[in-house]
Amino acid sequence: MSEQGISNLSTEERRFDPPADLAAHANVTDATYVQAADDRLAFWAEQARRLDWGTDFEQVLDWSNPPFARWFVGGRLNVAHNCVDRHVEAGHGDKVAIHFVGEPGDTRDLTYADLKDEVSKAANALIDLGVQTGDRVAIYMPMIPETVVAMLACARLGAPHTVVFGGFSSDALSSRVDDCGAKVIITADGGYRRGKPSSLKPAVDEAIAKLGDASPVDHVLVVRRTGQDVQVTQGRDVWWHDVVDNASPEHTPEQFDAEHPLFVMYTSGTTGKPKGILHTSAGYLAQSAYTFWATFDHKSDDVYWCTADVGWITGHSYITYGPTAAGATQVLYEGTPDTPHKGRWWEIVDALGVTLFYTAPTAIRTCMKWGEQIPAEHDLSSLRILGTVGESINPEAYIWYRDTIGAGRTPIVDTWWQTETGAHMITPLPGVTSAKPGSAMTPFPGIAADVVDDSGTPVGDGEGGYLVLTEPWPSMLRTIWGDDERFKETYWKRFEEQGYYFAGDGAKKDEDGDIWLLGRVDDVMNVSGHRLSTTEIESALVSHPKVAEAAVVGADDETTGQAVCAFVILREAAGDGGEDVVAELRQHVAGQIGPIAKPRQIMVVPELPKTRSGKIMRRLLRDVAEHREVGDATTLADSSVMDLITAGLGDAKNDED
Ligand code: WTA
Repeated sequence: MSEQGISNLSTEERRFDPPADLAAHANVTDATYVQAADDRLAFWAEQARRLDWGTDFEQVLDWSNPPFARWFVGGRLNVAHNCVDRHVEAGHGDKVAIHFVGEPGDTRDLTYADLKDEVSKAANALIDLGVQTGDRVAIYMPMIPETVVAMLACARLGAPHTVVFGGFSSDALSSRVDDCGAKVIITADGGYRRGKPSSLKPAVDEAIAKLGDASPVDHVLVVRRTGQDVQVTQGRDVWWHDVVDNASPEHTPEQFDAEHPLFVMYTSGTTGKPKGILHTSAGYLAQSAYTFWATFDHKSDDVYWCTADVGWITGHSYITYGPTAAGATQVLYEGTPDTPHKGRWWEIVDALGVTLFYTAPTAIRTCMKWGEQIPAEHDLSSLRILGTVGESINPEAYIWYRDTIGAGRTPIVDTWWQTETGAHMITPLPGVTSAKPGSAMTPFPGIAADVVDDSGTPVGDGEGGYLVLTEPWPSMLRTIWGDDERFKETYWKRFEEQGYYFAGDGAKKDEDGDIWLLGRVDDVMNVSGHRLSTTEIESALVSHPKVAEAAVVGADDETTGQAVCAFVILREAAGDGGEDVVAELRQHVAGQIGPIAKPRQIMVVPELPKTRSGKIMRRLLRDVAEHREVGDATTLADSSVMDLITAGLGDAKNDED
């Protein structure tokens, strides 16, 4: 549909076709979907053969013991060789792998040849520290090149890593180190955040101290980044610049079985104990590399930038592994988007000519809040594809992203996937899909997903239900580290009869059969017997010109079962919103979705409680909405947020009628 004549359509009805020039040269076309549907396993075998194998595989998938999958059975390869060495061997050693931008403004480029040397040196240093194939290594680092080097060095040795987000506490680090029995921790003195050095090493010392005699850690390898004072435990702690910088850059990678464990990534579950999601080598690499190439239509001269932290799955699949396996040039930025000014990201896009940009909806809404004059100060014309991940992108933010950052030209890929899925699963493809703002659209070629009702029967178009994956896929989690039972119970029990993987998300198929994610199932509210999605109401709120961000929870209600409670942050330009802002917003939601969705209560707040990966902690908001003492807030990125919210609630702005 052309841009003309759409002004009287709501954003949900807009569609954006691929730009003709992009479609004409796209890596993936309609034919790819047809080919994959025709023979799914042959399709994945072909994608896996884009990798360099020491020994070719004999069988694409062994699903004889579900839900324990084995992909590319009998094959052997080395993941680091595929991400690094083979590009150098193919004559691309001078190509930049990483444009590093430090928060204070320091920059450093690493070519693929540099990366090969660094990864080999780090691998040799780890061997000297006693790391052997199969040993676990924990990585607790800022966003600096050594982090990627450390991960690839572990992969090179077949020593599974577990990256713990640098913003996590010593408690979180300690429980993860303990759960996976890490022998070495790789860390830094600290990193730069919000204009100042923040420390990491003291948390490592605390984490090890907490484990006492039971600590599995023999050595701590420390990168000097900020020059902060560091306590050194003799015999245990070693400096990166002593042992890695002086190690030999020669290291011959060994070939490992396709199913050799690559990493464990901890993610929170419904119980307090985090789940260690296990990913293995070949299937994970094949799907993360291929989806990177396909979803972002990667061309060899692209400059790609994913703003996620390496401490999350997005940073694993779409910084460390996918892009390097594809031989891409990427930006790695250490700091926050508003340091030293709110245009920092756009300044970097401009300076480095970024063409592919991947971020989270919450970041886009923050930029919206800051206003469009900030990106307007930079030349963003290099951008050709924009991506999002982490939650549904509300149509309002989608349009802002497309228009303000992408000048109305760039396709947006709204990629649905999970720590557990390892790589993109449902997403538009930029050269193929006529995309609808707010919809993740269709399963990726070779991926089988559906929306089913309580009994596991697929729902019809126009209906909602549970999102399931109906066939195994190469980058699927293999188990929960050390807990096969919990793996079966958490993901496979709900639709055991059908053999479906249950993603935990609600979704609907629209009239065309395209998929819209509705948030986690536990975020679905039931108001007077009507199923309402938190995402839908949040999206309605954010479509109001005065609203920057919104979070909705279902609070217990005597009459309706649950009642809709909304927390909103107003845009800077809206000032305090005016006296009637709450009534105005309630009316707006009623108009957008229907009176049933009208929030019982709207609270105007200065901030929302978010985890470090940017997910809103609705549990805490529910506590506020239900007038309870606020529960455990230790995983919040900023623990003072809840104080701000509760303090602000005396405000006259809280209308409860
Ligand atoms: C949500 C992040 C809607 C979803 C890669 C999923 C999304 C959870 C999207 C996984 C999207 C992620 N649209 N929802 N495009 N992407 N989600 O493990 O609820 O941190 O189950 O992985 O994020 O979060 P995780």
